[in-house]
Amino acid sequence: MRLHNRVALVTGAAMGIGKATALLFAQEGARVLAADINEQEGAETEREIRAAGGECLFHRTDVSDEGDVEAAVKAATSRFGPVEILLNVAGIAHEAPAHELKLEDWQRILNVNLTSMFLCAKHVLPGMISLHRGAIVNISSVQGLFGFPGYPHYAASKGGIISLTRQLAREYASEGIRVNCIAPGTVDTPMNHGVLARVPDPDALKAAWAKMHPLGRFGQPLDIAQGALFLAGEESSWITGQCLAIDGGVSCRVF
Ligand SMILES: NC(=O)c1ccc[n+]([C@@H]2O[C@H](COP(=O)([O-])OP(=O)(O)OC[C@H]3O[C@@H](n4cnc5c(N)ncnc54)[C@H](O)[C@@H]3O)[C@@H](O)[C@H]2O)c1
Repeated sequence: MRLHNRVALVTGAAMGIGKATALLFAQEGARVLAADINEQEGAETEREIRAAGGECLFHRTDVSDEGDVEAAVKAATSRFGPVEILLNVAGIAHEAPAHELKLEDWQRILNVNLTSMFLCAKHVLPGMISLHRGAIVNISSVQGLFGFPGYPHYAASKGGIISLTRQLAREYASEGIRVNCIAPGTVDTPMNHGVLARVPDPDALKAAWAKMHPLGRFGQPLDIAQGALFLAGEESSWITGQCLAIDGGVSCRVF
């Protein structure tokens, strides 16, 4: 087991990439605090992990609310001990070109996608400093690496995550804390199921997404969770401040 008895806080753990990561980490022996705003699906993540013999506590958390984040970290610490691994996964998407984008939508996306990652890091760092070890993995996006029409606020939040990752990596390396991020391509999750439900021809869009990625398919949540496991565990002990694109090669293509 690669994370035996390690205490991990996973945000966005009710669905998609966060859920796959929480399940995989628990399978690898981690004690998981599953944080999410969705109580029903979050409780289901806890139930599935326990049914498989793992350790998990779901805590209803809005990651953009500092009080909620503080409470989630306290819940993890009192149940399992200081958080040693933070997986910042929770995020939301919204589409609008810049000239039509409302300021409130800009701020909402920045708060949930970027400020949340600062808040979660802020509240786990004291425990990691006291242990003199820790690993933080932030989920960015290929949209933080290159332009994609219609998503200025989402792209800005994801680019900000990459910069925040490098800054925290530099600042806390001397404390034995590593900070990395992952830039996924298109992944088969409820976030994208929502997009497919809004278009007239979902099969055509699915085919276009698959074709867009040089490896010929879009990603599964486990593809991202496996990368998160590597960056959270000892196998990556000399890696910090990096952004790993797990994207079927989409960031390699020009046309
Ligand atoms: N799916 C993709 O193609 C893709 C690609 C690149 C990056 N990402 C990023 O990966 C992460 C996970 O995406 P996903 O596709 O699994 O999404 P998803 O919508 O399937 O799951 C996101 C989870 O985050 C939770 N969440 C949303 N707002 C929250 C809040 N304020 N507080 C706490 N929890 C909240 C949701 O309840 C949900 O459980 C996001 O940061 C997303 O931007 C996804």
